[in-house]
Amino acid sequence: MSEKLTEKYLLIEGGKPLNGEVTISGAKNSALKIVAAALMLENGKSTIRNIPNLSDMRVMCEIVQVLGGEISFENGVIEMDCSDLSSNYVPLTLANKLRASIVCLGSLLARFKDVKIAMPGGCNIGARKIDLHLKGLKALGAKITEENGFIHAKAKKLVGTKIYLDIPSNGATENIMLAATMAEGETIIENAAQDPEIVDLANFLNKMGCQIEGAGTSNIRITGKTLADLHSVDHFCIPDRIEAATYLIAGAMTGGEVTAKGVIEEDLQSLLSKLEDTGVKVQIFPTGNEIDNRAVVDIKVSRESERLLATDITTVWYPGFSTDIQPMFSTMLAIAEGASVVKENIYDSRFQHADELKKMSANIDINAKLAVFKGVPCLKSASVEGKDLRSAAALILAALTAEGVSEVRGLGHLDRGYENLEEKFIKLGATIKRVSSAENLTLTEDEKATN
Ligand code: EPU
Repeated sequence: MSEKLTEKYLLIEGGKPLNGEVTISGAKNSALKIVAAALMLENGKSTIRNIPNLSDMRVMCEIVQVLGGEISFENGVIEMDCSDLSSNYVPLTLANKLRASIVCLGSLLARFKDVKIAMPGGCNIGARKIDLHLKGLKALGAKITEENGFIHAKAKKLVGTKIYLDIPSNGATENIMLAATMAEGETIIENAAQDPEIVDLANFLNKMGCQIEGAGTSNIRITGKTLADLHSVDHFCIPDRIEAATYLIAGAMTGGEVTAKGVIEEDLQSLLSKLEDTGVKVQIFPTGNEIDNRAVVDIKVSRESERLLATDITTVWYPGFSTDIQPMFSTMLAIAEGASVVKENIYDSRFQHADELKKMSANIDINAKLAVFKGVPCLKSASVEGKDLRSAAALILAALTAEGVSEVRGLGHLDRGYENLEEKFIKLGATIKRVSSAENLTLTEDEKATN
């Protein structure tokens, strides 16, 4: 059968308010790095909980296996034993399937002082440079060569130093932090990324016996340890703020009441504030639970007025408005009353959803990294394609809002970042079905009714 005939896509009947509760999964961008970090552990085992079942996670598990580690992944829990890790080589076929593979560079350099890894993959959303990763590792004493799409990093020993990052890159902060855990003396990363996923990684490393202070601020201080200082670790990953944002925006867009369960309010602050600017009521309900001494809450959104209101957003580094939320939020602005200016500062191509939205009657002017969304009262159903993870999610939100039945393609991207997406939306009352071109292409009356 040709690829076209077997291609899966989502059939979505929109125009219905979503209502109810959705439990938020563990953070992809945290869990992936934590598994990469666990490669360092020679004496002991890692138990990592709240892991989302995503294709990227499964590839990361394959990387652990190809390096000689033992890993199991069941019911959201990863158990890892890397005491007999036998390889320091991450092949192209695995590395280029996801972005987070690049973080194995730092952990394997820390463990073996010698690593060869193929360039990472990930969403095609513009230049995704790694110059700062390499600059930081060189400053720690690594000799780095790049050849035929591979990076080879080697050091007799790593020595702590002060490293200033020109921009607060997540990946660079993670790689330098990992390598520095096994460097002699102290390393200070200045202008470090402050994202919650960095804090989660640092918390994991500290539980494993590393010494990292200041994660979550722009100055991270790492005191070098030895592999012998590391020991077994049990960690629960933070909830996925981008997934939570996706469902909260879906609730606001469709005019229903959606509660994202089990999230950390502070991690979503820039989104919640902007949702309020568009006329969305945000309610916070404490759960009494904590993750690493931070309160876990449920967040409920509902619309205060018939139409959402326009607002401007500018994506910046955390704690500013997240680039990863921009595609979904700007899709909401496509139906808000008035014109909204959206400025994307992190990536060159993060308006890939906007051209597709135009097929759904959205009125959007795009000029490089600036777009003006002139809100229309409603979107129309269409056949659209997500070209990256978040643009696929954004188009699903558009389809859930649009009158009629839409087709959303690009599920390969989507499955890298959203666990049980259809089940979660169906629970909220959506009519959504994954089909392939070879199957029945309509939603039956039964499916409409039971949904
Ligand atoms: N950059 C440089 N030099 C570097 C590193 C980065 O110029 O050495 C630039 C990149 O070219 C890019 C920007 O800085 O324009 C952001 O890069 P960063 O290193 O911060 O991003 P990343 O580590 O590759 C992670 C997330 C992304 C998220 C960004 C920013 C993972 C696996 N990915 O990527 O998540 O957008 O941080 O917050 O953690 C997503 O989930 O949809 C996603 C793309």
